[in-house]
Amino acid sequence: MILDNVSKAFGEDWERETVVENLSLTVKRNQLTAIVGPSGCGKSTIVNLLAGFELPDEGTITLDGKPVTGPSKSSLVVFQETALMPWLTTYQNVVFGPELRGDMPKNELKAAADKIIETVGLREFRDKYPLQLSGGMQRRAELARALINQPVVMIMDEPFRGLDAMTRQLMQEFYLRLCEQEARTNVFVTSELEEAIILADSIVVLSNKPTSVREVLQIDLPRPRNLDMLSSPEAYEYKRQAMEILHEEAMKSFKGAGTNSDFLEAYSRRA
Ligand SMILES: Nc1ncnc2c1ncn2[C@@H]1O[C@H](COP(=O)(O)OP(=O)(O)OP(=O)(O)O)[C@@H](O)[C@H]1O
Ligand SMILES: [Mg+2]
Repeated sequence: MILDNVSKAFGEDWERETVVENLSLTVKRNQLTAIVGPSGCGKSTIVNLLAGFELPDEGTITLDGKPVTGPSKSSLVVFQETALMPWLTTYQNVVFGPELRGDMPKNELKAAADKIIETVGLREFRDKYPLQLSGGMQRRAELARALINQPVVMIMDEPFRGLDAMTRQLMQEFYLRLCEQEARTNVFVTSELEEAIILADSIVVLSNKPTSVREVLQIDLPRPRNLDMLSSPEAYEYKRQAMEILHEEAMKSFKGAGTNSDFLEAYSRRA
C-alpha cells in the first residue's frame, strides 16, 4: 500500500482543520507496520483513509497499484474493538459477514470458520455469546471475524486497548505467533511503544496534528520473537529513539497551547 502526499481536513469554513498533511508512507507486503503517534494526532483518521472509509482531500492511496476509492471488505479489514454482536455466538459472529454477502459456499464457510476459531484458541467457546467470554477472548473472537475475510491488508486500530496488563501481554504473544505463522500485510496502530517494537518490522512515528511521518524505524529484532526481547539493548535503543521523537512532538504541542515556557524548560531538563 502506498500513501502519496495524502492530506485530509475536517469541518467547514473557519472551523476547518487539517488533520493529515502531506503524509507519504509505504506499507510493505507481508510485514507488520506499526503506527505510533501522540494522542489525538490523527492515527484513526489514517486508518479510516487506508480502509477507504474516508477519502483524501489531496494525494493518493493505492493498494497493489489500484486506488482505494471506498471500503472493500475482502481486501481491507479494520479490526474494530466493538465489532462483536452480543446476540450472536462466537461462530455466528465469525460467519456473519460472509453469510450476509453470500460470497462463500456454505460448507466452505463452515470449515473456514471452525478452522479460524481453532486458530484463535476459542474452540471450546464456539457456541458462547460475547458476554460469556473474557476480555482477551472477545478480542480473539473479533480477530477471527476479521481473519475470515482473508484480508490482503489487515488494519488494526489499537486492538488491545483497554485490556489489563496481563491479558494484553498474552494477546501480544498470541498475535506474534499468528503473524509469524501466516504471512500477511498488517498495519497496526498502537499507543504503546513496547507493543510496537515487539510486533513490528517497521515503526512509523507520526508528528503532532496536522500529522505526517516524522520517522520510520526498522526493527531488526530476530524472529520468532518473544516478549523477553524487550529487555535487550537493541529494543531499548529503539524505544529511546522513538521516545525522543514523541517527546519532541509533545513539547511542540505544549508550546502551541501557549504553556508557560519556564515550566517547559524545567520539564526539558528533567527529561
Ligand atoms: N469525521 C470527523 N469529523 C471531524 N473531525 C474529525 C473526524 N475524524 C477525526 N476528526 C478530528 O481529527 C483529529 C484526530 O483524530 P483521530 O481520532 O484521528 O486521532 P487519534 O490519533 O486516533 O487519537 P487517539 O490517540 O485518541 O486514538 C481530532 O481532532 C478529531 O476531532
Ligand atoms: Mg484513535
